[in-house]
Amino acid sequence: MRFHPLRVREVERLTDDSVAVAFEVPPELYDTFRHVPGQHVTLRREVDGTEVRRTYSVCSPAVPAPAEPVLRVGIRLVEGGAFSTHAVKGLSAGDTVDVMPPTGRFTLRPRPGRFAAVVGGSGITPVLSIAATLLAEEPDARFCLIRTDRTAASAMFLEEVAELKDRHPDRFHLVHTLSREERQAGLPTGRLDAERLADLLPALLPVPEVDGWFLCGPHGLVREAERALAALGVPAAAVHQEIFHVDDASPAAEKRNAARTAPGGSKLTATLDGRMGVWPVGEGETLLETVLRNRSDAPYACKGGVCGTCRVRLVSGEVSMDRNFALEPEEVSAGYVLACQSRPVTEAVEVDFDA
Ligand code: FES
Repeated sequence: MRFHPLRVREVERLTDDSVAVAFEVPPELYDTFRHVPGQHVTLRREVDGTEVRRTYSVCSPAVPAPAEPVLRVGIRLVEGGAFSTHAVKGLSAGDTVDVMPPTGRFTLRPRPGRFAAVVGGSGITPVLSIAATLLAEEPDARFCLIRTDRTAASAMFLEEVAELKDRHPDRFHLVHTLSREERQAGLPTGRLDAERLADLLPALLPVPEVDGWFLCGPHGLVREAERALAALGVPAAAVHQEIFHVDDASPAAEKRNAARTAPGGSKLTATLDGRMGVWPVGEGETLLETVLRNRSDAPYACKGGVCGTCRVRLVSGEVSMDRNFALEPEEVSAGYVLACQSRPVTEAVEVDFDA
């Protein structure tokens, strides 16, 4: 998977601190950029002489072939975030941005059933694509969206969500809570924690009949929603999650895992884009750092264990992962690890970026 330079078609301001950026996709790349609802893309651009990358979820509904895919992402300004600052303040139509094809497993292909989402802040972005595609393509599907924002003015995609409600009044149910502002009617102000959600959800929908739950947003909210669903007896297999920000870096795990590395050092064999390389792993290095020293085309974005762009299959050897907010338990049991978070424990480790 590699980056493709795409022209920005439109930058639309959503709130004071967020924009939606739409790209032009040339016909020869239609299939490459056709996303499954819920997926994200990694963007790369040079800002002030430095290469910056970030992943952003596609907010537009998936369009079936052969039409041009609509590639539109939601970007919220993150304090100190080089890419988001550039996108929100400096990006305009006609600019070129390097874009990697859509990836990610926080997805829902339209099918009959009842689905629900709990999202916070910019977590609405992938869920908007999921709900809009599902409701447009599957007449026997229903969607309940519970969203929470700090204030109404800070809520992204208000219009798009309202439109979904107008278009599918019987099959789309919206509950919008605000954590720092009174609403004239509806739910009281305050944070959505596990206890509140465990009370709220059964009042909104028949929880045992929900075929799939989608939790997306800041780490705290996703964990609280996960706890609430577990308390309500929802099986973990029915819960999909995507975390957008993780503030609590875990230096302890990093140190512990760095200390576990093989005493004489390790050798890493990696296959990337069909080519194999063998390199010594530098002291304390992650697999991604080793590969990047030798191959600049290794895929990554957040380097923080959140986006999943650096996913590799462990072919042999053992590694320890500092943290993982991106891989589902089934992927971990199938042998996938995050290259940006993994350090070798054995003398020889082999991974495959293409698997
Ligand atoms: S680069 Fe994002 S999880 Fe590794």
